[in-house]
Amino acid sequence: MAMTTRSDPQLAFFLALVLLCLVSCNAQQQYENNRQLDCTTTDSSTLGYTCNGVRSCSSYLTFRSQIAYQSPVLIAYLLGADADNISRINGVATEFANVPNDQLVLVPVPCSCSGGYYQHNVSYTLTSRDTYFIVANDTYQGLSTCQALIAQNPYGSLNLTAGLRVDVPLRCACPTAEQTSSGIKYLLTYLITWGDDVPTIADRFHADYQAVLHANNISSSSTIYPFTTLLVPLETEPTKDEVASSPSAPPPPQTADTPPNDGSGSSSSGHKWVFVGVGIGVGLLALCCAGGLIWLLCYRQRRRRRIPVPDVPVPFKTAESSANYSELSDKRSGPPTSVSVQSVRSAIESLTVYEFRALEAATAAFGEDHRIMGSVYRGVINGDAAAIKRLKGDASNEINILKQINHSNVIRLSGFCLHDGNTYLVYEFAEKGSLGDWLHHHNKNDSSSCLGWKERVQIAHDVAHGLNYLHDYASPPYVHQNLKSSNILLDGELRAKLANFGLARPMEDGERPHLTRHVVGTQGYMAPEYLEHGLVTPKLDVFAFGVVLLELLSGKEATFTEEGEKQDTLLWACVGSVISGEDARGRLMAFVDPCLGRQYPLELAHAMAELAMLCVARDPGSRPSMTEVLVSLSAIHDSTLDWDSSDLADSSSMIHGR
Ligand SMILES: *[C@@H]1O[C@H](CO)[C@@H](O)[C@H](O)[C@H]1NC(C)=O
Ligand SMILES: *[C@@H]1O[C@H](CO)[C@@H](O)[C@H](O)[C@H]1NC(C)=O
Ligand SMILES: *[C@@H]1O[C@H](CO)[C@@H](O)[C@H](O)[C@H]1NC(C)=O
Ligand SMILES: *[C@@H]1O[C@H](CO)[C@@H](O)[C@H](O)[C@H]1NC(C)=O
Ligand SMILES: *[C@@H]1O[C@H](CO)[C@@H](O)[C@H](O)[C@H]1NC(C)=O
Repeated sequence: MAMTTRSDPQLAFFLALVLLCLVSCNAQQQYENNRQLDCTTTDSSTLGYTCNGVRSCSSYLTFRSQIAYQSPVLIAYLLGADADNISRINGVATEFANVPNDQLVLVPVPCSCSGGYYQHNVSYTLTSRDTYFIVANDTYQGLSTCQALIAQNPYGSLNLTAGLRVDVPLRCACPTAEQTSSGIKYLLTYLITWGDDVPTIADRFHADYQAVLHANNISSSSTIYPFTTLLVPLETEPTKDEVASSPSAPPPPQTADTPPNDGSGSSSSGHKWVFVGVGIGVGLLALCCAGGLIWLLCYRQRRRRRIPVPDVPVPFKTAESSANYSELSDKRSGPPTSVSVQSVRSAIESLTVYEFRALEAATAAFGEDHRIMGSVYRGVINGDAAAIKRLKGDASNEINILKQINHSNVIRLSGFCLHDGNTYLVYEFAEKGSLGDWLHHHNKNDSSSCLGWKERVQIAHDVAHGLNYLHDYASPPYVHQNLKSSNILLDGELRAKLANFGLARPMEDGERPHLTRHVVGTQGYMAPEYLEHGLVTPKLDVFAFGVVLLELLSGKEATFTEEGEKQDTLLWACVGSVISGEDARGRLMAFVDPCLGRQYPLELAHAMAELAMLCVARDPGSRPSMTEVLVSLSAIHDSTLDWDSSDLADSSSMIHGR
């Protein structure tokens, strides 16, 4: 039926392609045979499946849900696939829902020919322990090989460093002409694990046993190895039933729904090549039909593929409305860009545009004694104290966001000034400076510089309010993306305000999570999915908020060096050991900021640490939303208002039983 819509040149193209295939294509792929273990060998089977059929097609990878990659959205980002399709095909409720550990997940991806091998290219950011072998075998579970990684990346095996982005060619394949002619539409890349054998794998996917053997150029007596891939030829899309069934209880072999298979049965599948020789006329026609179909499929695939694949710099395509946001991505590293005219025009409507002279006068020409820190100065404008921040180049992102946000827990921008390629932003003045300074740089001998328990809870509550507003009530909603204690400012009453929106991002409703290749942020506050995949969702702020809670509790910095240790410790990584296991109470007491002495309710501190632990969960899907955080914090806040430091004796007993 597809044929009727194909025009003649395309038909001719397929005839040519098919003929070419018949002459030169191998009918099968070569199984790896455990050669992927030795990274110094370069057997062609380890580099990928050779291009011996159509140049591109849709294919299926498999992946076993594991700790860091447990929800469709995370698996999709690791494998350059589409999260919706992963949830749909595997019957997972939502993109963020967890798949049970170690369960097989079907991952539809486009597969195409490159450098003589079929592959689905993705990129991956190395962590400090990674080697090519670990990336291929452990992270990608054998979907790639160290040999293929070495062949496709310019970096030597010894030159790998954390943060380096490598190309990862994943092993997929397209059906050969011969397979297509026998009804095979897709090849699924199955990850062999302990205890597997070919008949079980074939049964599981309702595939013909002989066809599986043949597709991998193995015989019934061949050995297969864990952490290698086996191609499974499929006539129809795989379904969730095939992955949900545990391998130990495979579905009964060849049930009633596979009569066509039985008809052309094992006798013919053993001699498929004969068919090609005999029925060449009929075969050609069938092949053309199938080729046209596949082409149609691939063509449609290609047009839609652009969005989900991480290699495409997506984030700013989706923020279509505002051309000026697109400058943000490289603002920090690139040369200063000019301030966009539109953004200035729209900002003028609600903000004061200051004359440079006025700012100079307010800050004694940006004199040293007016400097608060970095390029932020204190000044008095029209009788009001103000903070004036000088930024190189374009600050339209921050201006655009702040001009439309009016919330008591977000710093207010009153105006700006453009001068000499710099943008000067004028904010309300936060008299007491940053939370970071209060927590980490206070004078140890001056007890008045230690924030009390009530103040800490109030600050946490304020910050949660501000973030909740950004995530759920601002229009459009924003992700702050740079939350840390030094970006939380305190006013005269020690009430907190969020500041520094230079990295904030709008999140349109119902939009896919953003991806960025341009990971910027502060060590210790960045969520794993952001560091590893550049995934930007509101859960980044939740994570960073968890770290801020831990700073408030402990007075420690987000990364700190323990006495006698050389390596930095990440504050968020310690929370588990603080509130669980033996003597949780003692450990919590040791964790709490020593400057608080005993002046805090231990059970509320415990509740706060528990909340922080939820916020810094590795899987973004299991972190609470900011609204949920706010609800929990409000409870802690209310109990804190009731608490009086004279109840100390009671409060320490209340934690009993934990
Ligand atoms: C998801 O799957 C459907 C059906 O197979 C396909 O048409 C669509 O292109 C896929 N979407 C993406 C974004 O890959
Ligand atoms: C995959 O990446 C490599 C290296 O960047 C490139 O040469 C190749 O063309 C890419 N393949 C595909 C299918 O995009
Ligand atoms: C490959 O990865 C698996 C886990 O996915 C691990 O059990 C196995 O030991 C690894 N192989 C080697 C040789 O390290
Ligand atoms: C590895 O790094 C060294 C020193 O930086 C350099 O001389 C060498 O060429 C690099 N090797 C590869 C294969 O990139
Ligand atoms: C299949 O395997 C045999 C040996 O196991 C080998 O000689 C032959 O070249 C392989 N065929 C293909 C098409 O790779």
